[in-house]
Amino acid sequence: MQIDILTIFPDMFESVFKYGVISKALEKKLFTLKIHNLRDFSPLKHSRVDDEPYGGGPGMVMRPEPIFNSVREIIKRSSFEKKDINVILLTPEGEKLNQSIMSSISSFKKLIIICGRYEGVDERIKKCLVDKLISIGDYVISGGEMAAMVLVDGLVRLIPGVLGNIESLDKESFSGNLLDYPQYTRPFDFEGMKVPDILLSGNHKKITKWRKERAKAKTERLRPDLLENKENQ
Ligand SMILES: C[S@@+](CC[C@H](N)C(=O)[O-])C[C@H]1O[C@@H](n2cnc3c(N)ncnc32)[C@H](O)[C@@H]1O
Repeated sequence: MQIDILTIFPDMFESVFKYGVISKALEKKLFTLKIHNLRDFSPLKHSRVDDEPYGGGPGMVMRPEPIFNSVREIIKRSSFEKKDINVILLTPEGEKLNQSIMSSISSFKKLIIICGRYEGVDERIKKCLVDKLISIGDYVISGGEMAAMVLVDGLVRLIPGVLGNIESLDKESFSGNLLDYPQYTRPFDFEGMKVPDILLSGNHKKITKWRKERAKAKTERLRPDLLENKENQ
């Protein structure tokens, strides 16, 4: 997978992708990541990327030229066919991200991810340039960069070979319709709170059954909607 991120704050990504699973996947060349500065694609004086909204109103809006130019240039330079490329705009108006959307996005070979700022982007970008609008939840943050980090982190975990133990993927929360089972580690007794005996029994059949029951009970208690939602089953 190739991921290209378009932003006016490219430095924000530097430290985030230097750690953990993502940095290891980059080292192993399991995917490539390019961060592009939208200002480099502006045809305007002082590399301007924003302007006042037509009709008035507060704040600034991201102009279409830098975003159209950068997406077109990246597609032109790519060896992939358009059907293998997904252009994504992060916006609170988008489809709310979940594990099944994450998984469908992960089937593309190349992703171009646009981060908005200010009051958002010119509507023509949504109508005529992007394939998918993605929201990370029903709230507003100040820019698409942190939303892009969430999306990329979740996607990279799905690339084959990224997670050490392939099993851990299908046992995680949301991979089916259940949350993860309760996890314990050492010490056995922490301030009088003990690890359930079954986990020390060595009986893997019983442990698997116990985990499934606990995952179901936890889901019923914390996220009953997951059990009702057919899409997640
Ligand atoms: C301050 S927000 C613009 C909000 C816009 N005026 C609105 O009310 O929908 C600036 C940028 O942050 C990003 N953003 C904010 N909230 C987001 C969310 N929930 N999911 C994805 N991106 C978000 C988008 O890229 C957006 O263009």
